Amino acid sequence: MSEPLAGPPPGPPESADRAMPPWGELRRARIGRRLLLWILLASSLVTLLLTSLQLYLDYRRDVDGIEVRLAEIEHGYLPSLASSLWKLDREQLQLQLDGITRLPDILSAEVQDAQGTLKVESGRMDTRAELRRSIPLTFEDRGERRVLGELRVVANLEGIYRRLTERALIILASQGVKTFLISLFILFIVHQVVTRHLASLARYFSNFDIRAPQAPLALARKPREVPDELDFLVQAIRDLQDRLARAYSDLHRANQSLQTDIVARQRAEDEISRLNQDLERRVAARTADLQAANNELAAFTYSVSHDLRAPLRTMHGFAQVVAREHGHELSPQAKDYLDRVQNGAQRMETLIGDLLRLSEISQRTIKLVEVDLSALAQNVANELQAEEPGRKVQWHIEPGMAARGDAGLLRILLANLLGNAWKYTGRCATARIEFGCEDVGAGPIYSVSDNGVGFDMKYGEKLFTAFQRLHRAEEFPGTGIGLATVARIVHRHGGKVWAEGKVGEGARFSFSLAS
Ligand SMILES: Nc1ncnc2c1ncn2[C@@H]1O[C@H](COP(=O)(O)OP(=O)(O)OP(=O)(O)O)[C@@H](O)[C@H]1O
Ligand SMILES: [Mg+2]
Repeated sequence: MSEPLAGPPPGPPESADRAMPPWGELRRARIGRRLLLWILLASSLVTLLLTSLQLYLDYRRDVDGIEVRLAEIEHGYLPSLASSLWKLDREQLQLQLDGITRLPDILSAEVQDAQGTLKVESGRMDTRAELRRSIPLTFEDRGERRVLGELRVVANLEGIYRRLTERALIILASQGVKTFLISLFILFIVHQVVTRHLASLARYFSNFDIRAPQAPLALARKPREVPDELDFLVQAIRDLQDRLARAYSDLHRANQSLQTDIVARQRAEDEISRLNQDLERRVAARTADLQAANNELAAFTYSVSHDLRAPLRTMHGFAQVVAREHGHELSPQAKDYLDRVQNGAQRMETLIGDLLRLSEISQRTIKLVEVDLSALAQNVANELQAEEPGRKVQWHIEPGMAARGDAGLLRILLANLLGNAWKYTGRCATARIEFGCEDVGAGPIYSVSDNGVGFDMKYGEKLFTAFQRLHRAEEFPGTGIGLATVARIVHRHGGKVWAEGKVGEGARFSFSLAS
């Protein structure tokens, strides 16, 4: 179904047909000109062949006429000529030869005796197209036939040629005019019946616009009872137009719905991009806030830790002075209290020192280099072993492990993880500590594992917070700052750290260095 679309409809083909006179079209028509040329060529060729045949037959007939005349001369004149020659009657011979040359187409005749002494001739010899004939003159003398001489006759062919030329010209001229007129007539008929309709079809299609409603195609001619090829063509074109209009309308609808989809998608994309920008702005603002708060907190922690040290040392120093100089005056209970004050101050000193180190790690600028982790781990293991040479520990450090990172920070990281493993396997009869690496596709994952006391996985996340401990200080000494330091170093390298463990079976601390 074709939908109504805007646009001026093209004019009907009939009116366009009438716009140009048929003779004007006839002159411009190329098919017509080619047709005329071919008809003229073909009929000229046939005319030429037939005319040549006709002329040849005429020529043969005329030449045969001369032959008949020569035969007549032979039968009619020879006896009297032979008799005149026998009598050597020159006058009579001359009369007879004149009689021969008066015959049509005979140009000249001569008689010559066998000895060459007598020669009589008549007629003229001024032509190039001729037919010669020599006939012996014989005479019967007392029962014996004797050759007296020879009659030579020359027939003129020019007349034949002239007649043939005239005839050829007449035939060619008449045939030429006839052919030309018939060709023009055929051309006119072909134009009327075929080519003018082809031209109107061409005009119709040159104005054809699928987007505008079209007047139905119609040829300027009377309707026929029995349809011919042009009717079939027009019908086929109309069917094609219908199908085209339907296809165009389908396409148009599909295109419109596509346009709607595209607009909707564009809107959704714009909305998403607006939301994204908004989100990015908020994240950036929040990150900046966090960074500022973090920096403030780090500075605060540092200054608090730093400033706490002076009064703490005063407390510790004066407690020492009291113990040393007035210890003998104190009761045993007062001495015990004083010892506790000193131990508390000592512990606080250690805690402040750890806090300052942690804070220092957060502030420090890191310098990335290629670090041999295996060598670093071996070095830490050697130091641990040297501090407690009596302990038997099986070390398994995978050779050739390398990573890009800050060498100083990575040493602190390994010292903490291997130090923990060393510490929390302290009560194992056969302690085993491993440091290895595996790559499951997203970059290397390093892990330190041991078969020590282990821990409850419930608290796995908490371990990385400062001062969070799962074991009592009497069992395993420590401040609980080691894993917080590890976590901070890993985060500063853009990696992740996590812990796995089971009470009584051991622990495994894994980390990556860059995501
Ligand atoms: N290898 C381990 N096996 C069992 N538990 C562990 C292991 N490593 C750490 N933990 C648990 O995690 C807690 C936190 O460890 P972290 O290293 O932060 O502190 P710490 O070792 O107690 O003290 P320090 O500050 O001297 O390192 C420990 O107190 C311990 O309970
Ligand atoms: Mg530790």
